[in-house]
Amino acid sequence: MYRTHTCGELSLSSAGTEVILCGWVQKSRDLGGMTFVDLRDRYGITQLVFNMEENTDLCGRARKLGREFVIQAKGTVRERSNKNRNIPTGEIEIAVDELTILNRSEIPPFTIEEDTDGGEELRMKFRYLDLRRSSVRNNIILRHKVAQEVRRYMDSEGFIEVETPVLIKSTPEGARDFVVPSRMQPGTFYALPQSPQTLKQLLMVSGFDKYFQIVRCFRDEDLRADRQPEFTQIDCEMSFAGRDEILDTFEGLARHLFKQIKNIGFSEPFRKISYHEAMSFYGTDKPDLRFQMKISELTDLAKGHDFPLFDSSEYIGGICAGSCSEYSRRQTDELTEFVKRPQAGAKGLVVVRYETDGTFRSPAEKFFSSQDFTDWAALMDAKPGDLMLIVAGDKRRAQPALGELRLEMGSRLGLRVKGEFVPLWVVDFPLLEWDEETRRFYAMHHPFTSPKPEDLGLMETDPARVRADAYDLVINGVEIGGGSVRIHDAEIQKLMFKVLGFSGKEAEEQFGFLLNAFRYGAPPHGGIAFGFDRWVAMFGGQDSIRDFIAFPKNNSGRDVMLDTPSRISEKQMEELHIKIAGEKGK
Ligand code: AMO
Repeated sequence: MYRTHTCGELSLSSAGTEVILCGWVQKSRDLGGMTFVDLRDRYGITQLVFNMEENTDLCGRARKLGREFVIQAKGTVRERSNKNRNIPTGEIEIAVDELTILNRSEIPPFTIEEDTDGGEELRMKFRYLDLRRSSVRNNIILRHKVAQEVRRYMDSEGFIEVETPVLIKSTPEGARDFVVPSRMQPGTFYALPQSPQTLKQLLMVSGFDKYFQIVRCFRDEDLRADRQPEFTQIDCEMSFAGRDEILDTFEGLARHLFKQIKNIGFSEPFRKISYHEAMSFYGTDKPDLRFQMKISELTDLAKGHDFPLFDSSEYIGGICAGSCSEYSRRQTDELTEFVKRPQAGAKGLVVVRYETDGTFRSPAEKFFSSQDFTDWAALMDAKPGDLMLIVAGDKRRAQPALGELRLEMGSRLGLRVKGEFVPLWVVDFPLLEWDEETRRFYAMHHPFTSPKPEDLGLMETDPARVRADAYDLVINGVEIGGGSVRIHDAEIQKLMFKVLGFSGKEAEEQFGFLLNAFRYGAPPHGGIAFGFDRWVAMFGGQDSIRDFIAFPKNNSGRDVMLDTPSRISEKQMEELHIKIAGEKGK
């Protein structure tokens, strides 16, 4: 028997018991007559003690144990004189009488403790060692727990977990595909799924009624803290259900997870706000509603006063950003730079200080009367003592810039409280997005998303105004999931392809399998997919999903541990009928 107990379970109630433990040497301390070793495994740390007087030979061997050696220790549990209240096993220690070295270790490249001296790159290169650190390991254990709770809820609601293929067909979705060359059919490629979207719809045609899958998805896109090239979705689809039934079902999943994982309950139904409202009041389609600070549009009030910045702007909007006294001139100048930086792209920011004596101070004060400012303040709910921040520019850029400014101010004022969660549904997204460069419409969600029935008439006359029966679950400013009611009518699907600029032939080539299936009785259906990594990271209280994935990629999409993407052999290339452009063939 390797062990009788783990390193995390022994307490005073086991004093006097003979035990065998196995684990890694976290550290050892040699105090002359005594040697103490912290033995670590997945479950915790237990102190081993070796006594020079009682067993000189054994103690001598213990002194030579290096960090991360794998050992087995047999001994008796006893009460510790110097108790460590910070760990569950801190009241006991093991007086060891037998020690076996199961394996040796080289000196690890960084200290495997919470306060590690290893930088990000080094820890990623030796990820298997990083995963020995309890904070990283706990993230992975949290992930496991969330997955179990997802399965428990989905099963209880009658959803069936079905696996779908990973080698599929390349289709033009949002991001670029990762592709895999076929050896057996020279010159052809599989694509890795960006999501199992079409497959889950086919399962509805097959009559599975309710499907889900915790599934890996692949997207070749620019990476950020909340984006990995391969990530995991909780992918779901259901038949014979309209939008509200779908939202209720998945709000149920969200509530179940919050209750089981965080012990948080929500007394009210999740708020539903339209995409239009979200953009107008929060400057983003994923608003953080832990705080108010709503955006007010001032375009009509503020234009026409000969103030060049405003008169030359399509849109003017403002927020009331708390107390003036907190901001120096330098700080407000910084905010101006913040909204004007290229990523934000507003034309400018005007600061108005509503002084406690009821007067207004602003660089734009010669263009506006006190009454003008009072009107703005009334709209923005600003009181004497408050700072009003007004942003102007093209609506397409100024609104999101205000949204970012709102978040920045929320963070600076400590309003984005960790541990507080405000979930909401953003609904009624536009069906289509116009792209100036290619001068055509793209599906904002994907081409199978249903227009709202009341907007169907606009499909051919004014496609830009058509709203989709699409929705996102947003929590604290993060898009946790998104989905839609699907088109199940072949004629509407054809119309959608037409508006998207696909010829009948192109649609047939790309999506023929789905269109064919729809000829055999597609039920009305809809669904959603949640970003599993994002959800776990949020429950773990972090923004970056990387530490919740056992073996993640870095920001350039590299796995630095496996050292890949990497070259393949000439032989493999030959078998796959592949040559690298610009390289001489051999
Ligand atoms: P969508 O593209 O919105 O919808 O993706 C669903 C959710 O997946 C998460 N997500 C990501 N997480 C980590 N890294 C990424 N690169 C990444 N990309 C997306 C987000 C997002 O909300 N088939 C549709 C769903 C449907 O209509 O049912 C789809 O994939 O949390």
